[in-house]
This record gives sequence, C-alpha cells and structure tokens, in this order.
Amino acid sequence: MVDVPAIAAIERACFGRDEAEDLIAAELTRGWARVWVAELQAVGMVAFIDGWLVADEFEVHFVATLPEWQRKGLGTMLLDYVVFQAFSQGARSVVLEVRRGNTAAQALYRARDFEIVAERRGYYDDGEDALVMRSPLESSLVAARRAAYGDF
Ligand SMILES: CC(C)(COP(=O)(O)OP(=O)(O)OC[C@H]1O[C@@H](n2cnc3c(N)ncnc32)[C@H](O)[C@@H]1OP(=O)(O)O)[C@@H](O)C(=O)NCCC(=O)NCCS
Repeated sequence: MVDVPAIAAIERACFGRDEAEDLIAAELTRGWARVWVAELQAVGMVAFIDGWLVADEFEVHFVATLPEWQRKGLGTMLLDYVVFQAFSQGARSVVLEVRRGNTAAQALYRARDFEIVAERRGYYDDGEDALVMRSPLESSLVAARRAAYGDF
C-alpha cells in the first residue's frame, strides 16, 4: 500500500505544488507507473522517485528528498535503485527532464552518466527551459558500480 499523503508532503516541500496529492494519486493509477521511497526508521518517508516504464525506456517523473535530508546520498541511492530495477524489468535507457537552473539535480544525473540530449525552450509554467537528459542504462549501472567499488 503506497502512502500517497507522505509522498505528496515531500513533493509539496520540494516543488511547492498545492495539487501534489492529486498528482501523485493520479500517477499511481497507471499500471506502468513505478514508485520507490526511502524511509528512515523513527523518521518516516524522506525521499521518493517515480516514473513510467514504457517499452524499453524508463522515464523518471519526480525525484525528491525532503530539504532537511538532502545531500546525504538518498537521491543517489534511489536513482541507482531505479536504474537497477528498470534494467531488470527490460528497460535499456532512462530519460528525464530537468530545469536548466537546477544544477544540483543535473550533478546527480551526470554522476550516473546522463547527458543532455535535447532542450525544450520555455517548457515550464514560469518560462524556464527544460533540459532532456538521457542515459543508456548500462552506462548508469557501470557508473553506480564504479562509485561503490572503484575502478574494476
Ligand atoms: C535533486 C535532489 C533529488 C538530490 O537529492 P539528494 O538526496 O540531496 O541527493 P544526494 O545526496 O545523493 O546528492 C547527489 C549529488 O547531487 C548534487 N547535489 C545535491 N544537492 C546539491 C546542492 N544543494 N548543491 C549542489 N549539488 C547538489 C551533488 O553532486 C551530490 O553529490 P555529492 O553530495 O557527492 O556532491 C534534491 O536536491 C531535491 O529533492 N531537490 C528538489 C527537487 C528536485 O529538484 N528534484 C529534481 C527534479 S528534476
């Protein structure tokens, strides 16, 4: 059973969307949607990632860590888990959109071999551009393994 209010609280804290709960609930009605969460004992849910597995591609929609728990490796852990799960479920690439100004998220993705493959001008409501970043899953797996175990 997915705790939609807890996920929505993270979404709201990170993106400030009032309609977070409806958005997440709608997302989870789709059979091809996947969501993974990070929960800490005695704290509760602190981060989540979600997206769609479409044919051989996994499309990440949201990745978010509560502000007070950021920069502790949770985003990386969730992204690595998605990469592994998506690969084992038949995906061969991961794709996502990120705001041009969101350099923190871009650093997270670059560390897993994502590259910018397209730009969408004025894509967001406030007019900011979106960068489309993509990684062949095998590259992300290798990058995750290198981060964990060093060169091999
Ligand atoms: C992007 C986000 C999910 C990263 O989650 P996190 O749990 O902090 O991730 P990690 O601790 O694993 O950090 C991974 C890397 O991201 C980069 N990063 C994360 N936060 C950063 C910050 N505030 N400033 C600069 N770089 C940052 C760093 O390269 C970091 O690696 P390092 O700590 O070894 O230097 C988190 O910042 C977040 O929730 N932001 C708000 C929502 C958002 O923008 N989501 C992405 C939408 S595309």
